[in-house]
Amino acid sequence: MITLARASGMHYYTPQGREVLDCVAGLWCVNAGHANPHVTQAIQNQAAEMDFAPTFQMGHPKAFELATQLSKLAPEKLNRIFFTNSGSEAVETALKIALAYHRARGEGTRTRLIGRERGYHGVNFGGISVGGIPGNRKVFGAMVSGTDHLRSTHDLSRNAFSKGQPVHGAEFADELERLIALHDPSNIAAVIVELLAGSTGVLIPPQGYLQKIRELCTRHGILLIFDEVITGFGRLGSAFAAQRFGVTPDLMTVANGITNGAVPMGAVFARQDIHDAFMQGPEHMIEFYHGYTYSGHPLACAAGLGALRAYEEGELFDRAARLEPVFEQAVHSLKGLPHVIDVRNLGLVGGIELAPRPGAPGRRAYDAFVAAFEDGALIRVTGDIIALSPPLIISESQIEQMVAVLRRVLSKLP
Ligand SMILES: Cc1ncc(COP(=O)(O)O)c(C=O)c1O
Repeated sequence: MITLARASGMHYYTPQGREVLDCVAGLWCVNAGHANPHVTQAIQNQAAEMDFAPTFQMGHPKAFELATQLSKLAPEKLNRIFFTNSGSEAVETALKIALAYHRARGEGTRTRLIGRERGYHGVNFGGISVGGIPGNRKVFGAMVSGTDHLRSTHDLSRNAFSKGQPVHGAEFADELERLIALHDPSNIAAVIVELLAGSTGVLIPPQGYLQKIRELCTRHGILLIFDEVITGFGRLGSAFAAQRFGVTPDLMTVANGITNGAVPMGAVFARQDIHDAFMQGPEHMIEFYHGYTYSGHPLACAAGLGALRAYEEGELFDRAARLEPVFEQAVHSLKGLPHVIDVRNLGLVGGIELAPRPGAPGRRAYDAFVAAFEDGALIRVTGDIIALSPPLIISESQIEQMVAVLRRVLSKLP
């Protein structure tokens, strides 16, 4: 069992004190690197100042301060923020907001939720229902009904070894038109997609795909939810991936980088008019029957404010954009190594797909994961795909180091 005992900057340390380069930002969270002083200090101060405060029909200054700062970073008009404690909770919250919004406007028949095959939206009931991971769904049968799914955009037959967004596949969005015709728009509440699917193996949206999805949702009054749990906070070289792609959703879910991974937190961003549709008071009444005891937890809010400071001071979103060409060249240098059937990248995200070992899917990449760790690099694998998503503070020489480990590992991998 691999265990980690300490972390600082770009590195983890094992209980025996061995240094390991973190090539996955923990789990797509620690964008400003480990133990960032702004974050650490903020948490320490907050723990002493106020440990907990309820946020049901009440508030505390840091929750508002964080929401205000987040709304300034957000894609246009997404200025209302609901805090949760994880990405999964953010997804549940966004789906419920979508249903509540339509109902409040007299369109209560809009209940169907559309996700995508190979989509990952956490592990709660809403998330697994719109998600497209069979293993996450199979045990829960009927509880995951009321949804439909677009096809995955992953198409190695045409897009293998693409640099940046693949050229082919915008037409995968036409599938939405078919589902809308099948169910009728009056029955569809929302479409939820990851902009770049991380957990199922770095699936990058084809050029023009997201624009088409946006256009169809707008035309049919369907809310578009972007799940930015891993793409938020600079991963693709802009605050949110929506801004990089120039496509604005109606609702957006985030987590992970919101506190640099230091305290669990998630959030849903919503347009003002979506908020206003049902948040009409009176003050003593609950308008939206939803919320978590730890929503807007003071330690999480403090960590969030610290993380935003770290991102700003280090100009880390710009840094990710500047490093992208170096990162791209480095990961694509792995093309041609044994078993490598695709290399893909966007922002500071890389995916290396391996041919599965006959009769043992996932085994080859898992062996690569173990060998890389022994060679001093923490990578992530999903199925037979290696995913790379380092902290945005990574240096060019550390990018080289990461790829050197992978080159050694892949050259020897049976
Ligand atoms: C796109 C996406 N949505 C939701 C989640 C779930 O977040 P959490 O594990 O914080 O519940 C994840 C986790 O990786 C994710 O990648």
